[in-house]
Amino acid sequence: MAEVYPVPARVRDGSPNPIVDVDRWREAYHRAEVDPDGFWLDWTRVNLHWHTVPTIACEGDFRTVKDEPIRWFADGEIDVTYNCVDRHAQATPDKVAILWEGDRPGETRRITYDELYEQVCRTANALEALGIKHGERVIIYMGMVPEAAIAMLACARLGAVHSVVFGGFSAESLRDRILDCHAELVITQDEALRGGKAIPLKKITDDAVAQAPCVKKVLVFRRTGTAIDFKAGRDHWWHEEIAKGAITRPAFPVAAEDPLFLLYTSGSTGKPKGIVHTRGGYLTYVAYTHRTVFDLRDDDVFACVADVGWITGHSYIVYGPLCNGTTTLMFESIPTHPDAGRYWDVVQRHKITVFYTAPTALRTLAAAGDEHVTPFDRSTLRVLGTVGEPINPEPWRWYYDVVGAGRCALVDTYWQTETGGIMISAIAPATPTKPGSATYPMPGIAPVLVDHEGRALRGPGDGHLCFSAPWPGIARTVWGEHDRYVGTFFSAYPGYYFTGDGCRRDRDGYYWITGRVDDVMNVSGHRMGTAEFESALVSVEEVAESGVVGFPHPIKGQGVYAYVVLQPGAVIGADFEQVLQAALRQHIGAHARLDLVQIVSGLPKTRSGKIMRRILRKVAEGEVGSLGDTSTLADPHVVDAIVAGRKTL
Ligand code: WTA
Repeated sequence: MAEVYPVPARVRDGSPNPIVDVDRWREAYHRAEVDPDGFWLDWTRVNLHWHTVPTIACEGDFRTVKDEPIRWFADGEIDVTYNCVDRHAQATPDKVAILWEGDRPGETRRITYDELYEQVCRTANALEALGIKHGERVIIYMGMVPEAAIAMLACARLGAVHSVVFGGFSAESLRDRILDCHAELVITQDEALRGGKAIPLKKITDDAVAQAPCVKKVLVFRRTGTAIDFKAGRDHWWHEEIAKGAITRPAFPVAAEDPLFLLYTSGSTGKPKGIVHTRGGYLTYVAYTHRTVFDLRDDDVFACVADVGWITGHSYIVYGPLCNGTTTLMFESIPTHPDAGRYWDVVQRHKITVFYTAPTALRTLAAAGDEHVTPFDRSTLRVLGTVGEPINPEPWRWYYDVVGAGRCALVDTYWQTETGGIMISAIAPATPTKPGSATYPMPGIAPVLVDHEGRALRGPGDGHLCFSAPWPGIARTVWGEHDRYVGTFFSAYPGYYFTGDGCRRDRDGYYWITGRVDDVMNVSGHRMGTAEFESALVSVEEVAESGVVGFPHPIKGQGVYAYVVLQPGAVIGADFEQVLQAALRQHIGAHARLDLVQIVSGLPKTRSGKIMRRILRKVAEGEVGSLGDTSTLADPHVVDAIVAGRKTL
């Protein structure tokens, strides 16, 4: 039996939220189950400002999604930025909206709601002057500066559609995303700073835009002041453009189902998908989950230390917290800069109350030792969260006992880019926790575990995790490729949304995510497709073929294991591994790296030529005793050679 941690008394005391124990969770869950439309309409009408209040909640279901996309609150009209900025600028103008901690410890900016209002209006006016209109796409390729969030909000205020591209992606990846959504404007900065290193974002943008003729303008925020190339007519300085326009701008309510943003994610195929989130449902869902899971209080200082380039940054740095009028931290640096005490130094200086990070960071910090934690005052912390990958019990306990000193609730939040917000998680003041389990589903969320035949399991068991009913935050489509959306999420198990994750449900109804069951890897909380790696590797002249799989890695969660078949007669040098790494850097980005490389004479294939990844995965995982039936392989001997040459860390 896994141990159960009750909610610390201090976390429950004084909670302003309705769900403060398991009975209240059950009540809310039941209400959302029997009357989802009423549940969500009530919540959104009370907590969001609608210019036209919706009367309809959900339309469409998972059986008809091919022909009719899911819609929520479709007769409502909303301005996302009115919700995230204007109403708080009126009610609490002097409250800090964005609290920024720069790369250098102590380098801080505080932007109040009043100032945020002015910045968002100015920037929206500037974008409009640069030609951006309702419905058009804008790429945001920036580091962790407040202007990245301001740029997102400014797009939203125009009714434009932003797509943030993580600052680690290469020029090729950036170009592909620009071309896919046909963006006319790219917003970037001279350089980003991360852990003392400068990343030449403008230079990379120049390389990408050179091959993307759809881009008419590039808007450049000055972060470091380094000299950069400037192309007259195309490039514009952020500070000059926003100084030109008015400091106000009327709200611009648009239909609830208007797209708010695209976010590209890796899937089982080589080409990233532009996941589309819309306005009313997404905002409702992220605001609800942010308030509920973290047990939000008025004076919270909320620190989600993810990057805005990922969905976690969209939902829980920008849209959820700002919609709820919270003070939200933006952290430019990395957990180990200048040393492994950085997070807790930030917690002490900014009096953080809720801290939300990824298991991979916790594993790194736990390995560095408690002496980096204990000198700092962490008494303001009330809720600790994790997201992005399964958390093993050891780092869970370390986070709970050492960082939280046993006084904080720990919420392990399971969700995905496509779900928009948290799906399965403890609710801080309500749910007893078990290390390694995401616990219970949120109200309105209906998880189903299915077996290989698509039969729903009852009670305890192990299966593929699906959801059986739409929720407001679900992605509506893949940009320009609705068939791909339907194929990816709704074809494996008709009538269900399939997550791609494996999951176990225990006797108490607790959910334990066991990891991806498809060809998606999760490396340091970054989601990456094996196919993207393989196509980058075969771009190297000497490589004929490759098979890439994830394997358990003590810090990264999953590491990347590449089996590489050379071209006949190819001669490789001692630096071959660097050549492979460089190809990944060029085609994907700096965060795509191989941990282990094995040169093999052939890959295990079926007689019809399909790579048997199951075998590659087992060998990488070190489970060579349980390879299963290999007799159907075209050449069973390649497996012996692969096993004999297996690499380990
Ligand atoms: C994994 C990140 C276990 C999972 C918000 C999912 C998790 C993928 C957890 C989505 C968790 C996320 N426990 N696994 N608490 N949270 N995952 O789209 O495999 O970057 O499918 O969204 O991360 O990654 P994505």
